[in-house]
Amino acid sequence: MHARIIGFFSFKGGVGKTTTVANLGAILARDFGKRTLVVDANLSGPTLGLHFGFAHPDYTLHDVLEGKVSIHKAIYEHPTGLHLLPASLLSRRVALHKFKQYLHELRPYYDIILVDAPPTVSEESIAALNSVDELFLITTPDYVALSSTLQAVQVAREKKIRISGLIMNKVRGKNYELSFDVLERDTKLPVVSVLYDDETILASLNKAQPAAFLKPRNDTVVEYKKLAAALIGEHYHDSRVGNWLGSLFRKGLSRDEVNRAIVMESHY
Ligand SMILES: Nc1ncnc2c1ncn2[C@@H]1O[C@H](COP(=O)(O)OP(=O)(O)OP(=O)(O)O)[C@@H](O)[C@H]1O
Ligand SMILES: [Mg+2]
Repeated sequence: MHARIIGFFSFKGGVGKTTTVANLGAILARDFGKRTLVVDANLSGPTLGLHFGFAHPDYTLHDVLEGKVSIHKAIYEHPTGLHLLPASLLSRRVALHKFKQYLHELRPYYDIILVDAPPTVSEESIAALNSVDELFLITTPDYVALSSTLQAVQVAREKKIRISGLIMNKVRGKNYELSFDVLERDTKLPVVSVLYDDETILASLNKAQPAAFLKPRNDTVVEYKKLAAALIGEHYHDSRVGNWLGSLFRKGLSRDEVNRAIVMESHY
């Protein structure tokens, strides 16, 4: 088995790329038992390690790209089985021409590799873009994030990299927000997850653990579980009582569920 390499991108900071990679990685490794690696490709502003309490690892992706250590030395195993390739918090400029090669050499060791991308249109994000098989874009429901998303769509399309879907994050359900329909219409991408602005996510970052570990039944975490399942061609059955009661009154699938099913079908 060779790992699929999936990137999580936005050309705007703070929309939730790192949070998404941390939670999906945690779920794929712990709940689905997949050999999962999460990679911090945000080399000038890395934060992925912080989601797992890893502030100053001995070796990082920076050391690997500088040729100081082999990539396996910079990969750490979390007690849940998740593997993490962090970058140095005190970042420095490194040559990126071998990034893709290093990442692709890891394929035989994993089922899935998730790449946390930088927020800028830069050499770093181009290196990350060139290394992934497909990507998801993350946006918040506002015009500033949408305009960055449109820029990212254009760059990914120029590079002929498959965009598998759009993740709407930090939704508050207010009528001034851009809707699911507007985001789909303007980006011409399927929205595969709608994640609400959720204090549990913020609180878990302060506890240096993904919400998926701390609050496995939290609504946002369950949305991440559904997306994680779709990435590996499985269905997630939400067995919470609230969902069971809700399903008695709900007609059919929600649109993001349909979109996830399509993403899943296109892979399996
Ligand atoms: N659904 C959510 N609800 C509430 N807070 C969230 C949610 N998703 C992310 N956050 C918070 O928003 C902040 C930015 O998230 P994150 O670091 O994942 O964004 P990012 O896109 O990776 O940012 P950067 O581009 O700077 O790397 C963090 O404090 C995180 O805890
Ligand atoms: Mg980030």
